[in-house]
Amino acid sequence: MARPRVLSGVQPTGSLHLGNWLGAIRNWVDLQRSHDTFFCVVDLHAITVPHDPKQLAADTRSTAALYLACGIDPEQATVFVQSQVPAHAELAWLLNCVTPLNWLERMIQFKEKAVKQGDNVSVGLLDYPVLMAADILLYDADQVPVGEDQKQHLELARDIAQQRINSRFGSEETPVLKVPKPMIMKEGARVMSLTDGSAKMSKSDPNEGARINLLDPPELITKKIKRAKTDPVMGLEFGNPERPEADNLLGLYALLSGQSREQVSSECAEMGWGRFKPLLAETTVEALRPIQQRYSEISADRSGLDQVLAAGRERASAVAEQTLQRVQEAMGFARPATAN
Ligand code: AMP
Ligand code: TRP
Repeated sequence: MARPRVLSGVQPTGSLHLGNWLGAIRNWVDLQRSHDTFFCVVDLHAITVPHDPKQLAADTRSTAALYLACGIDPEQATVFVQSQVPAHAELAWLLNCVTPLNWLERMIQFKEKAVKQGDNVSVGLLDYPVLMAADILLYDADQVPVGEDQKQHLELARDIAQQRINSRFGSEETPVLKVPKPMIMKEGARVMSLTDGSAKMSKSDPNEGARINLLDPPELITKKIKRAKTDPVMGLEFGNPERPEADNLLGLYALLSGQSREQVSSECAEMGWGRFKPLLAETTVEALRPIQQRYSEISADRSGLDQVLAAGRERASAVAEQTLQRVQEAMGFARPATAN
């Protein structure tokens, strides 16, 4: 029996942080042995907000290198760059023409990002979730491991596939597109900011101290954790709505030390912040050390990374082209005479 298909991606904007790793990439690593996995660097999404053309290619490569450094094995998983598989943009156009505008206008992430862009909101920013739907649907993905912030976009992808493509252009027996199943999120799906336990850790936070990037050197990690927001209460605990910082940092400690929430709860129940912070800093540095080590090896071998991405592009294109053709046929396009 074919292994279930998984697709996910991260934007090559800024550096990846603990939220990207714990909420997304770490889960990808667990899935690659049991599933047929496709992981893309979504560079077309990265230009939905103003970007620096001098930086895009370098950020795309370094994001791909970080996937590998985090443990994605290109022998098992298909790693590729979104813009290098033209079917993504092509399917997005077809989906655009059947997606109601008001479905996009109510996307929370659009509303949040649009506020930050002022008068400069691009059509692309509004359309972002349709491109994401194309990414997912092209691969007939069964599962899409992402952090909680992407849940609304996943539901949109399901609605487009089911209500706008399959029910209009397919039949019950032969659906055009596979409807991805919602994926149950594991712990780590929502890592919060170091400076505000009620806001998510994000690449776009102007305060560098709010996040720990996967490539931050040990001294910087220690400094950021030392400055992280705390409260005057003694002892760390989960689930106290008055203490979002305690919940977040204790959660990070559990994930990064590989212990259960019960274990760290009892270990840190009586511990003051002054003892906890150095412990968390050391644990974080140790958890990131192997990733940083592998990252420097991978980035030193430019042609090795190029080969991985070229092979990934070929495998991804083969799947994506077939799906695109299926949709084109269902929607009634005239196919070129040479196509079969
Ligand atoms: P982005 O940084 O928006 O490109 O997100 C890439 C992936 O990381 C997505 O799957 C997000 O859901 C996930 N992610 C981003 N920020 C966080 C966070 N603070 N906590 C958990 N997951 C996150
Ligand atoms: N929108 C996602 C994010 O910012 C990135 C993304 C684009 C994605 N296409 C995707 C994630 C397809 C999963 C599947 O996190």
